[in-house]
Amino acid sequence: MTEGTAEISRADRAAAPAPLLARVPDAVSIYEVSPRDGLQNESAMIPLEGKRRLIAALVDAGLRRIEITSFVSPKWVPQLADAEELARTLPAREDVTLSALCPNARGLERALAVGLREIAVFLSASEAHNRANVNKSIDDTLSVFSEIVPPAREAGVAVRAYVSTVWGCPYEGDVDPARVVHIAERLIALGCYQVSLGDTIGIGTPKQTHDIVRRFLDAMPPERFALHLHDTRGTALANILIGLELGVRDFDASVAGVGGCPYAPGAAGNMATEDLVFMLHGMGVHTGVDLDKLIEAGNVAEQVIGRPLPGKVHRAGPFRLRRQPTKG
Ligand code: HMG
Ligand code: MG
Repeated sequence: MTEGTAEISRADRAAAPAPLLARVPDAVSIYEVSPRDGLQNESAMIPLEGKRRLIAALVDAGLRRIEITSFVSPKWVPQLADAEELARTLPAREDVTLSALCPNARGLERALAVGLREIAVFLSASEAHNRANVNKSIDDTLSVFSEIVPPAREAGVAVRAYVSTVWGCPYEGDVDPARVVHIAERLIALGCYQVSLGDTIGIGTPKQTHDIVRRFLDAMPPERFALHLHDTRGTALANILIGLELGVRDFDASVAGVGGCPYAPGAAGNMATEDLVFMLHGMGVHTGVDLDKLIEAGNVAEQVIGRPLPGKVHRAGPFRLRRQPTKG
């Protein structure tokens, strides 16, 4: 390259608008899933008191949206069979929203009986995973939701929704993003306030994420969807960065990277909340979370679960930046 060429490219670079990180929001909302998505996948049965300690530590760290358990069949997910007792014995706080998975009318009945103000319904974008997970076709699952979402709303309960296997299915492989948008639109039309898009087995890469997020932004505003990325192959943060760049504001995460779906072979740890918060604060994005206390919550998770957990910041420990970020 000649010196003249280098000069021109430097000038071009200076003149061009910053293509990356142009639309990153000032603040994002983190939806913490470790007590549900994390503990459902552990082989050990975690005592109730351990779950309560974990949730208390998450609240103390500043997390304000926490999925605490599932009102699913205890035969399918015995790890969360204590859902009622857990929900009943957690201190209620106006500023903290506790939510729980709910697959059907029986689940809603159980959630209402313990006074939850939010539930999350869930289905998959691929038939095979949906059947493995809830023993029904996608259409039949949506019919069940059409019978539980309106009554939940009438009872004053907010409803979130998940669509799993958006980036690909462990049984069927590729998933058509247009189909995912269609399912999400049906969920929003039913009354769900937000649809969380699951990379259930952690296979997404940034170009694919760009395509998925753009299709969603063509169909609905950014607050209507969230990213729920399992970090099985280490690409979750890269995919989140793409989401941020496109204006996504809601991200699911799990402290210390615990998690996975027991009905998706190969599913492993969620995006670790500490890793996400570390990156966001370094970029000046506000989360409302105290990273030091969050690292403490990760230590509580490790004690309660009784095995080393994989989150990177959890393992590396805190690092003090010499220069403070401008926001966060
Ligand atoms: P089924 O066997 O087809 O249901 O299961 P059924 O209606 O025939 O009922 C069978 C038995 O379960 C009956 O009891 C029901 O009463 C009972 P029995 O007569 O045999 O004694 N039952 C219930 N008990 C308590 N609570 C309920 C309930 N419903 C039925 N709500 C069902 C269908 C949906 C219940 C079952 O398949 C199930 O519970 N699946 C849940 C699987 C699950 O929790 N998977 C993990 C969560 S999804 C995930 O991790 C992905 C996500 O993180 C996003 C991502 O990563 O992509 C969200
Ligand atoms: Mg999950």
